Amino acid sequence: MTAAIPNRNPVKGSAVLITGCSSGIGRESALLLARRGFTVLAGVRRDADADALRSLNLPDLVPVCPLDLTNHEHITAAVEFVADELRRRKLAGLFALVNNAGGGQPAPVELLDLERFSTELRTRVLGSVDLVQQCLPLIRPARGRILWIMTPALMPTPFVASIHACDFAVDCIVRTLDIELKPWGVPNVRINCGGIRTPAGLRTTGDVETLLKQGPPERIGLYVDALRRWAREMAEFDRNRTDPAKVAEKVCTALSAERPKRRYSVGYMAHAARLLYTTS
Ligand SMILES: NC(=O)c1ccc[n+]([C@@H]2O[C@H](COP(=O)([O-])OP(=O)(O)OC[C@H]3O[C@@H](n4cnc5c(N)ncnc54)[C@H](OP(=O)(O)O)[C@@H]3O)[C@@H](O)[C@H]2O)c1
Repeated sequence: MTAAIPNRNPVKGSAVLITGCSSGIGRESALLLARRGFTVLAGVRRDADADALRSLNLPDLVPVCPLDLTNHEHITAAVEFVADELRRRKLAGLFALVNNAGGGQPAPVELLDLERFSTELRTRVLGSVDLVQQCLPLIRPARGRILWIMTPALMPTPFVASIHACDFAVDCIVRTLDIELKPWGVPNVRINCGGIRTPAGLRTTGDVETLLKQGPPERIGLYVDALRRWAREMAEFDRNRTDPAKVAEKVCTALSAERPKRRYSVGYMAHAARLLYTTS
């Protein structure tokens, strides 16, 4: 394994496409990278979020909108937009794709909302693969890389099965891509995040309350004690969550390294979770 070179200046202007830049880790990473000299193509779903990014007046921060990963047409149009922007800026290719967009629902498997679960899978797994497929012709000429923002907790954990199911699938895809894309020198890098202080992260306890209120009464009663206990533990966990700026720094490190590591860990409990996984 080769050591990363932190904060080395990237080749001026190297282009990076990041998904899910309206808030949290994606937004924080987009801003940091644009300030560090990358050209950042920042995917968002809504015009208002694109306008918010434009209003920052960062010349190297370009919103890509609408980019909803559940929508194949959005992905195709976004990649065309990126290709045009690369031509306009006379860049040889896309230096990096950062697959970040996603969200989850805390619930016992018995009570998972299947419509939402389907959206999670289409966003985190199918949409990301669709984007990778369409971006690879732009990534190869730049000898670029693909980063994946994910959890390290690849062990079964009660009440977060939909999130972790996506991570299991993504983990398999990342490690397979890392082998398949070796001939073109396109590494696939996991950024394993522990607890990060973002809107999604902090929604967990509220989502549990909603589930307790709106779940099917005859079933929710079976889980009420365990869910309440877990929500109390999560409230404690929330107090220790890590600033998303730390993830943005890790993303920058992985992009600035001449030969990135296969995996970076960042955030509250990320190392402990990784240790549990490797020893289980
Ligand atoms: N926070 C943590 O503790 C933590 C830990 C490990 C991994 N992660 C992962 O980190 C990633 C970013 O999450 P975050 O914590 O930064 O939460 P966040 O602030 O809620 O950001 C999630 C981003 O994903 C976007 N998004 C959701 N569904 C999308 C879709 N179908 N198409 C395109 N964009 C979509 C959201 O856009 P809208 O504003 O339009 O909804 C938002 O920009 C997620 O994949 C999450 O699983 C987070």
